[in-house]
Amino acid sequence: MPAETHTPVMLREVISALKLCDGGVYVDATLGRGGYADKMLESAHCQVIAFDRDHAAMAAGQRLQQHYGQRFAMHHAPFAHMAQHITHPVQGVVFDLGVSSPQLDDGARGFSFRHDGPLDMRMDQREGETAADLVNTKTERELADIFFHLGEEKRARQIAKKIVAQRAQQPITRTHQLAELVRSVVKGLHSIDPATRTFQALRIAVNDELGQLKVGLAAAEKILAPHGRLVVVSFHSLEDRIVKQFLSARAKPAATSRHLPVNDNQPKPSFTLVGSQPHPPPMPKAKPIRAHARRAFVWPSARRPPFFPQRRLHDPPHDHDLVPVSLAGQRL
Ligand SMILES: C[S@@+](CC[C@H](N)C(=O)[O-])C[C@H]1O[C@@H](n2cnc3c(N)ncnc32)[C@H](O)[C@@H]1O
Repeated sequence: MPAETHTPVMLREVISALKLCDGGVYVDATLGRGGYADKMLESAHCQVIAFDRDHAAMAAGQRLQQHYGQRFAMHHAPFAHMAQHITHPVQGVVFDLGVSSPQLDDGARGFSFRHDGPLDMRMDQREGETAADLVNTKTERELADIFFHLGEEKRARQIAKKIVAQRAQQPITRTHQLAELVRSVVKGLHSIDPATRTFQALRIAVNDELGQLKVGLAAAEKILAPHGRLVVVSFHSLEDRIVKQFLSARAKPAATSRHLPVNDNQPKPSFTLVGSQPHPPPMPKAKPIRAHARRAFVWPSARRPPFFPQRRLHDPPHDHDLVPVSLAGQRL
């Protein structure tokens, strides 16, 4: 199909790790502009069921539907809900975490400090609090926690203090307003825009991205058939940590002691690790691919996004992890 405006990252590696088979059913948990789904459908005579919280992704999905007919289906829903929509085992699930270039480039969505727009940042604009809601209602302490824990921003307290002082004069409603405020606090020479971390933190909080990821991984585990594959492309250390903890918990047997009686009820490992590869090709310097350039700008660590393919082994999903976890909620 004709290329879309978003260049999918690690497409070759993702397709190879999924080990697509004719007749298989695969989940693209983060449809975006459909780059992964398109390649999956092109690479094997399989079916793809896609999810995205963003209504803009549904337009890309319609193009795929027109082209591939019943081999493609999509849900305008968070991937944390995938197990509610999919009742038959699937052969693979892929997550490409974060936001897409078109989302960042559209000032009206409020994700980017580069384009002025309403301070929204919701992936699903049908519901939930906007970034402006958080910025104008959270306490100074709560804001500092968000910036520190979700953005790893060293000047979190000073930024929060300035926000609280400024909003007492006038609500903060625009991306450029917030970006300028942050830049006035985080001074000096930086390889990235000083507002980067604050914006990343707010976006993660607004969309409960870490809570979504925890529930989404457990949901994927639930719907994967034995020997099905889980592939995750993550972009910053907070996501990496969650994915790695999930994988190591699922890939090794629960700790036992030779002094204790054998407990047959302990969960068996449900995955085996197939591989964890950093992004092999270096960043092209002269003319970076757009998606890479964007990601490198927002999250420098994205130059080498971790990549986690996993093979499903056994069949005991860990239901306790399906309890939604809201990291932002816990910390606030
Ligand atoms: C990096 S883009 C995916 C790009 C896609 N692989 C492609 O080839 O175009 C991430 C997408 O995931 C979506 N997304 C992020 N978190 C989500 C969630 N919890 N549930 C569903 N979609 C989500 C975003 O709206 C965005 O469209």
